[in-house]
Amino acid sequence: MKVINSVTEMQRTADELRAYGRKIGFVPTMGYLHDGHLSLVDEARKRADVVVMSVFVNPTQFAPTEDLTTYPRDIGRDLKLAEDRGVDIVFNPADKEMYPDEEFAFVEVERVSRLLEGEFRPTHFRGVASVVAKLFNIVKPHFAVFGQKDAQQAFVVRKMVRDLNFDVSIVVAPIVREEDGLAMSSRNVYLSETDRREATVLYRSLILARGLVREGTTDLVAVRSEMLKLISSGSKGKIDYIGFVNPETFERIEEIGKLDKALALLAVRFGKTRLIDNMYLEASRREI
Ligand code: PAF
Repeated sequence: MKVINSVTEMQRTADELRAYGRKIGFVPTMGYLHDGHLSLVDEARKRADVVVMSVFVNPTQFAPTEDLTTYPRDIGRDLKLAEDRGVDIVFNPADKEMYPDEEFAFVEVERVSRLLEGEFRPTHFRGVASVVAKLFNIVKPHFAVFGQKDAQQAFVVRKMVRDLNFDVSIVVAPIVREEDGLAMSSRNVYLSETDRREATVLYRSLILARGLVREGTTDLVAVRSEMLKLISSGSKGKIDYIGFVNPETFERIEEIGKLDKALALLAVRFGKTRLIDNMYLEASRREI
């Protein structure tokens, strides 16, 4: 496995691979890899000749009050896990390599970046979209794999690619969960033992929502209030949001209406650790 730290070397390598007709699959990460990231590598491996993973904790997607300085990092461990899983190239630039000067150009994906996560992290998706655009220009992949765990991020990236005609296909891979249902996240390591136990309430509340909708509930306000009850009775978690969107448009909805499915998303804080999760809710369509 090759490790590249320089932007120009990565671009030159990508040009050479493309000149030889190699298909480049890309897995962007912020490191501290877990099985969720490694499942993205597997997904990339299925379709690519060369799998490139980036490991870069992108400062521009963290607000000054967020956990940039304490974000977990262990590049030695990441390189070993990546190599064992079959990554061919890790792109691991320093902050100064990615941001040598004060930047004046950004990518803003309007509307969808403002709701749900965006209400609590107003500058987050501008940072994500901008760094992903930079990474696409550096790694020059044919396709890139993102996790469904960050469903809103995946939608923002897809919309950016579509609106700005990036020549990259976006693949979204399913959420990987711990045995008790907690969605894998690098931030799970911050959780105390009690919080870790209680954190399964995110998954349990989504299962509850899925059940209610399957049984015929179409009023998502009622579904939200059941989820809220479960979370507040079963944990000390503080809810940032529980929301529902039309998965095709990411517009907020309060009724399933004619849709086949809705996407339920939530963010809950345990102490300083903020966890997110989501699940599709498939509507029951009873013939009368
Ligand atoms: O999902 C992440 O780890 C990050 O948001 C990403 C896509 C690597 C951009 O920094």
